[in-house]
Amino acid sequence: MDEGSSSSIVADSVVVESVRESLEEILTRMLDDAAKRDDDDEEKKVNARERWRILAKAIQYRLPSVPHFGGFGLVSLKHITVPDKFIGFPDNWNEYRITLNTGYTVNVHRMRRKITARDLMGFNYTGNICLWPSEEALSYYVLENLTTFHDKWILELGGGMTCLAGLLVAKYGNPYGVHLTDGNTLSVDNVRKSLRLNPSINCYVKCSNLAWERCRELCPNEGGKFHYIFSADCVFFDEARSFLADAIQYFLADDGVALVMAPRRGSTLNLFGREATNMGLKCREIEQYSDIVWRKHRELMMTPHYREDMHYPILVLVTKF
Ligand SMILES: C[S@@+](CC[C@H](N)C(=O)[O-])C[C@H]1O[C@@H](n2cnc3c(N)ncnc32)[C@H](O)[C@@H]1O
Repeated sequence: MDEGSSSSIVADSVVVESVRESLEEILTRMLDDAAKRDDDDEEKKVNARERWRILAKAIQYRLPSVPHFGGFGLVSLKHITVPDKFIGFPDNWNEYRITLNTGYTVNVHRMRRKITARDLMGFNYTGNICLWPSEEALSYYVLENLTTFHDKWILELGGGMTCLAGLLVAKYGNPYGVHLTDGNTLSVDNVRKSLRLNPSINCYVKCSNLAWERCRELCPNEGGKFHYIFSADCVFFDEARSFLADAIQYFLADDGVALVMAPRRGSTLNLFGREATNMGLKCREIEQYSDIVWRKHRELMMTPHYREDMHYPILVLVTKF
């Protein structure tokens, strides 16, 4: 690791803390709202109920993986100096580095903004909180298997504000083309900024706002197109799991493979497997997909805040046949 760099997720735990504070502020504001509410007004009651429901979900989303676990230490983060013309705030430009035999780096714009109630009530916000450990593990796995992606079409679903695995394969995997996506507009805007600061990426790269439930309508010409689909930590949303499986079914080429990386997190990974299998897809779980990630996992098992079920990402290979 570079001197002066730190684990991205350790750095992001600061962001997580600020999310916690924001959530508490929002919660307080909502309680005030509720107290002022006219109980006779049915519409207001319905709205308030809906807001509480969304807030509860937002809190659940955020809690499972990040707070006490600093990631696998595979990705380091370094602030970089921006060129004369920059996008966003100069302070937000960073480099993610993963070192295998050699160092692989991509420049990323990191979102740093105070979370608002509007954010939490809008589209799923979890991808703007941090780089999740599953994306870290998936990025590492992709770099360890770079030649696999040569001349292939790659799609990342739910890549969050970094789409790190997709960005890395675009830069180093010599693919035919890469489509980086998420359903959250802020995440997608952020990935577009990151793309601008990686001029050495020379394959075709597209970046889209793509909600899984609207995949056919939004991408009518991309059914069956992708040889590889990446997805990291996207299966714990009860309401969206079947949409993710359906999007994989839609986008995957007949001989394609979706790399779905996620911790077991209770029954959520199994439920995803069940949804995918019901749609006719085949799922194969791999626990030890990388010697290095496995070694980090074994080391972390000795530490107090690491819980295998919550933190260790399993790789699920999803195919059509
Ligand atoms: C836990 S985050 C993971 C982000 C990123 N892969 C990572 O690991 O850092 C889950 C991501 O799934 C996206 N997502 C959730 N539901 C979605 C849906 N229905 N359509 C598209 N994206 C969705 C969220 O916007 C979020 O970016």
